Amino acid sequence: MKDMKNIKTKRLITSALPYVNNIPHLGNLIQMLSADVFARFCRSRGYETMYVCGTDEYGTATETKALQDNKTPRELCDFFYKIHKDIYEWFGIAFDKFGRTSNEECTEITQLIFKKLDENGFIKEHVTKQLFCTKCSMFLADRYVDGTCPKCGAKDARGDQCDSCGTLLDPTQLLEPRCHTCGSTPEVRETKHLYIDLPSIAPKLEEWMATASVSGRWSQNAIQMTKAWIRDGLNERAITRDLKWGIPVPKEGYENKVFYVWFNAPIGYMSITKQLADELAAAGKKSFDWRKWWLPSESSEKFEDGAEIQLFQFIGKDNIPFHTVVFPCSEIGSGMDFTKLFHMSSTEFLNYESGKFSKSKGIGVFGSDAVESGLPSDAWRFYIYFNRPEKQDYQFTWSDFQEKYNKELIGNLGNLVNRTLTFTAKNYGGKIPDGKKDEALWAKIEEKERRVTELLEWAELKDALHEIFEISDICNKAFQDAEPWKAIKENKQAADDILYNLVYAIKDLMILIQPYMPKYSQVVAGYLGKTIACAKYGESDGDGALTWDDLGKFGGLSDIGETKIYFSRLDDDATSTFRNKFAGNQADRDSAGDASKEKKSKKKEKKEKKEPSVLPVGQQADFFNANIELTVAKIVEVKPNPDSDKLFIETLDDGSGVPRTIQSGLRAYLTEQELLGKSVIIASNLAPRTMRGVESRGMLLAGDYTEDGKAMVEVIDVSWANPGTKVVLEGADVSAAKKAEITGDEFFSVKIESVGGTVQVAGKKLLADGRAITMAKAVDSEIG
Ligand code: MF3
Ligand code: ZN
Repeated sequence: MKDMKNIKTKRLITSALPYVNNIPHLGNLIQMLSADVFARFCRSRGYETMYVCGTDEYGTATETKALQDNKTPRELCDFFYKIHKDIYEWFGIAFDKFGRTSNEECTEITQLIFKKLDENGFIKEHVTKQLFCTKCSMFLADRYVDGTCPKCGAKDARGDQCDSCGTLLDPTQLLEPRCHTCGSTPEVRETKHLYIDLPSIAPKLEEWMATASVSGRWSQNAIQMTKAWIRDGLNERAITRDLKWGIPVPKEGYENKVFYVWFNAPIGYMSITKQLADELAAAGKKSFDWRKWWLPSESSEKFEDGAEIQLFQFIGKDNIPFHTVVFPCSEIGSGMDFTKLFHMSSTEFLNYESGKFSKSKGIGVFGSDAVESGLPSDAWRFYIYFNRPEKQDYQFTWSDFQEKYNKELIGNLGNLVNRTLTFTAKNYGGKIPDGKKDEALWAKIEEKERRVTELLEWAELKDALHEIFEISDICNKAFQDAEPWKAIKENKQAADDILYNLVYAIKDLMILIQPYMPKYSQVVAGYLGKTIACAKYGESDGDGALTWDDLGKFGGLSDIGETKIYFSRLDDDATSTFRNKFAGNQADRDSAGDASKEKKSKKKEKKEKKEPSVLPVGQQADFFNANIELTVAKIVEVKPNPDSDKLFIETLDDGSGVPRTIQSGLRAYLTEQELLGKSVIIASNLAPRTMRGVESRGMLLAGDYTEDGKAMVEVIDVSWANPGTKVVLEGADVSAAKKAEITGDEFFSVKIESVGGTVQVAGKKLLADGRAITMAKAVDSEIG
């Protein structure tokens, strides 16, 4: 895989610096995880790589939170920095440095850039009116002022907005303003702030962007958004604030002000690189000049001639303008030749179950929750990358998590690894058999590998991962087709060949998957006597560690010893426990654990008494007519669900022209043949439900009976009716519309029963095409 790589290229990688004052949730983790895949890929591919990130610590939010928690801002940041660091470590994110913005390196470089901007005439000063609290001796940020709304008279308006009438306010408009902290009346004072003159830098920015966006292949979305910003919105932006917690402004008259957090935060990318250099030097290790990466023209140390530094930045969509306009303007306006954005990989939002992840409300799965889930970090990583919200928002749901995890990670990749390695261990004593390279198979694999490489070169992480899973799928099919369990007895060479090829394909898969699932890849590579290269900056891999260059190569693997299952199946119970546990907000979590226990034992009780909450008989027919939709459907295919010993997966013709899949727990009672071709009745508007990784859209109706003391089940059979026929109560309108979707509880609130062999609800017969529905064996039974 030496093609399309210029080894001189250096990759400088950043992910948006997370705000320090909260625990990050999965939505925040995406950027760091994404940059991690890219960095790991670059290292394996042989690029000199630097991946930096860290906590974004300054600003009003930190000051406020510190005040709330009775800490100094510094203490608060120390506290949360550690939490962030631990969570990212658990997720296996291999930063070259995870630093912070509240240190001297950041102060030094921010002040340097500011001075240069000022020297070049790009800093302006403006005087504004702002409220000042004499008691607290500070200017009050908008949100720190309370008062009466001038519009609606509400007494609890804030300086930026009145929540009662929704009016956006300027704090000086408030009647009877009060300091939010001490309650005293602030006075209006003039204050001055410094502004970066973006309009004057804009021509240079546009010039840069015209070429950068092409060579760095910016997405259309990013280009459009940036152009729109430049066209309509480039104003001077204030870069100072009246706060204490921030970087001092090195200018006379600004002794009590600090830089606005968004001015210094992106500079944090540089300062964190310097932090790494300073730490290495302090530890007496081989260090480097941080400017080598960020300001090569002024560095004491240089890359070889012709080396290009490509800056890849991973951010959320809400941060695009800061990375394409504001930060580049600081860099350009300084007149220094800083490394600027090459390619930006931005993601949409990840939403949680039915709403948004929210830090302030504590809704969603937080890094700390993932840690406590007991699932391996690579399972989380897999799910996040497999569904990375690249083109549109993505909805995290637990049933989706369960499905993708069981079906793809375990059912596809995990399955290939397990069956191949255990077969080799069992039948060959672990010795990889001597075989012949299957050229046709490898042509397919290698084509995919080239595609994966191309995609990863431009950080197309999700598509690349899907291609990797397709390789695994191809290999599973090859295993299936070769039937080694037969071949080993009948045609040993054929068995040898397939195992030989598949073991080496697994070696390739582990190289490919290492950026995504580092821990898993190392475990499986370990079974083959190997490690996968992933050394961080300044470190080196052990001898013989596999790199991207080892793709497609044969030889050099050792015997396979004992192997273990790495990912175990997520069943429905565990999934719903997670769903309940992570349902409320973070603060409620502890009590939520108990609540879900309570719910569970209630459910159990219900089951034991066998008394679902059924409506009074008098209301059942009406409820049925308005809500429950029953449809005739023909079973056209039946197969067992491989992940269950009870469930059949049935494909139905329900008359709609689109095949419908349902599942039923009938394997203990009926064979596939007995079901195939039958015309059955299904509850067709029942909410879809995923069971053992497969979605079931409806439930077929059956009754039970006993024969010779054995429990038996009879499926309702309506052979006379065509698929799509609606089944209704006698006297009801066949074409009446029903509710679009009902819950299981709603369905069971009506009792459908077989009385003397006739199926009915509250004494009224069920009809299909005008004909009563009967049962031959389940003569008196409840139907469900
Ligand atoms: N802390 C910001 C956020 O979470 C991102 C800062 S990105 C940086 O939205 F470029 F400023 F570092
Ligand atoms: Zn005050």
